Amino acid sequence: MNRVLILGATSPIARALALRFAGDGARLYLAARNADEVRRVAEDVSVRAGVPALSGTFDASDFASHDEFIRRAAGALGGLDGVVLCFGTLGDEDVAQTDPAAALDTLHQNFTGAVSLITLAARHLEQQRSGFIIVIGSVAGERGRKRNYVYGSAKGALALFAQGLRGRLAASGVHVMTVKLGTVDTRMTWGREGALLTIAPTKAADLIYAAYRKRAEVIYVPWFWRFIMGAVRSIPESRFKRLNF
Ligand SMILES: NC(=O)c1ccc[n+]([C@@H]2O[C@H](COP(=O)([O-])OP(=O)(O)OC[C@H]3O[C@@H](n4cnc5c(N)ncnc54)[C@H](OP(=O)(O)O)[C@@H]3O)[C@@H](O)[C@H]2O)c1
Repeated sequence: MNRVLILGATSPIARALALRFAGDGARLYLAARNADEVRRVAEDVSVRAGVPALSGTFDASDFASHDEFIRRAAGALGGLDGVVLCFGTLGDEDVAQTDPAAALDTLHQNFTGAVSLITLAARHLEQQRSGFIIVIGSVAGERGRKRNYVYGSAKGALALFAQGLRGRLAASGVHVMTVKLGTVDTRMTWGREGALLTIAPTKAADLIYAAYRKRAEVIYVPWFWRFIMGAVRSIPESRFKRLNF
């Protein structure tokens, strides 16, 4: 039986993923900041999947609490076989581009908080020489765009971190999968443009879960973002800096 910790479990993508894991008999610990909401999500998953799901809270920016949090989650689950990292926030990009405190906040909630939590979980998995980590990142991390480079740089750094970790943990039999997610219809994207390429959270979760079952290393969700981002990366810098997106 898989014992899986899902971080950012009130995300609709994470909720749908939790149901996929629970459907395969996994024991879950669902965590987010909002205690009431994450408890409701855990109850919902338990009722729908017919297996108990535990819940708890964490804050990505509260680094000092992470060690105790990971121990608590692993203890409650009776061990840890996998971690799904699905937390993050866009923040206020306009403010973050001129206010260092806001910029650092975005970095902590998308990158440094993830580094802290994954490093602790990885230590545990490496010692037992098995397990998996799924890192949900973003296509925004593929190139620094003028409209979202603070958020984008956090996701880009997260992808590099996951890449190096994958190499290190391969020797211990721990699998790391990076998800480069395109636009998904969640509260994060509510009211934004790009509906044409937007997919439902359940669809995103289906694609992520199928890739996890195949032990994929790096996936674009959906697949067409690989080609879109290939084209975006190929634009010369002198031209790219003038594009307004
Ligand atoms: N939606 C998209 O188009 C899209 C595209 C690419 C990548 N992504 C990534 O996919 C992931 C899920 O996003 P979503 O779209 O589903 O957004 P969402 O519904 O806003 O979910 C974000 C999740 O992150 C948690 N969270 C945020 N800040 C946190 C913090 N400081 N500490 C702990 N938990 C925190 C939230 O928990 P609380 O509710 O308790 O605060 C929530 O569970 C994020 O990493 C996002 O960057 C999304």
